[in-house]
Amino acid sequence: MYKMQANLNLFLLLIIVACFSSSVQCQVISSSICTKYVVNGLDCGCQLKNNGNVAGIVSLFSLANNDHKPRFHDTYNKGAEGISYSPCYNFTEPGTPTKGSCKDVAACQTLKSPSQYVPIGLPSPVTYQVNTQKNVQFVYKHLYEQKLRTFTLTLVCNKTATKPVFEALANNGANYFAELSTICACPNGCPSGPGGLSGGSVLLIIFFVLLSVYFIGGIIFMKYVRNAEGFEAIPNVSFWSSLPSLIKEGFAFTFSRCSGGGSDSSYDKI
Ligand SMILES: *[C@@H]1O[C@H](CO)[C@@H](O)[C@H](O)[C@H]1NC(C)=O
Ligand SMILES: *[C@@H]1O[C@H](CO)[C@@H](O)[C@H](O)[C@H]1NC(C)=O
Repeated sequence: MYKMQANLNLFLLLIIVACFSSSVQCQVISSSICTKYVVNGLDCGCQLKNNGNVAGIVSLFSLANNDHKPRFHDTYNKGAEGISYSPCYNFTEPGTPTKGSCKDVAACQTLKSPSQYVPIGLPSPVTYQVNTQKNVQFVYKHLYEQKLRTFTLTLVCNKTATKPVFEALANNGANYFAELSTICACPNGCPSGPGGLSGGSVLLIIFFVLLSVYFIGGIIFMKYVRNAEGFEAIPNVSFWSSLPSLIKEGFAFTFSRCSGGGSDSSYDKI
């Protein structure tokens, strides 16, 4: 009986640690490849893998708009050259297409005066990659007037950037660059499909459902089968009273992993 109780406690502790570790996503992306992750035919996300295991999805699905207008409009760098960009859906700029405008594109270079539009990225196919700073990059291409242009968007994971910040950078010939700082650049930071929840939220919901089943079922069992009274009816009461210190250790473990304190940190050590 004691043995079974101890195993149950260990199991609960593991669930708690797993839930907190997965909802507190590490900002550091350890994978060096990100493979295309298409939802509803939309080419705007990729899946990070770590030793063959899915480490998270980076998707701009929740930032997309489907009104044929650029999501990020004429964002200028220091000079007079700007970039408009939309993830997932194409846009046309200016609204009434003229000759030499950007039609059905994902990215468009805009020049102020005289105003001019140069298509620099088709919505699909997108090449997904991870740069040496471990940022996911979406690379778009466009063949325009016999010249191949590329647009590289670097996604910067910022957990507090719930409002995305798009910044056009200087171009290098026909290669254009921009940075997008957003929580959606963090693995599982945003939903990757319609009505989808991020992986962390799903785990948290499962956790709370399991927790309620455990407590309600446990209390009924202790009360009616074991005839326990008062606090004694709480299942595993000794475990729960020691929980605060266990949670502290769980967090210490999670954050020691996230702060990049080295690959030698293991659960056994604490
Ligand atoms: C542009 O988007 C519209 C609707 O969002 C779609 O019907 C059309 O096929 C797209 N065009 C291209 C070139 O992707
Ligand atoms: C993250 O985003 C927040 C809110 O937009 C901003 O204030 C902060 O400076 C950003 N952090 C970094 C490291 O860029």
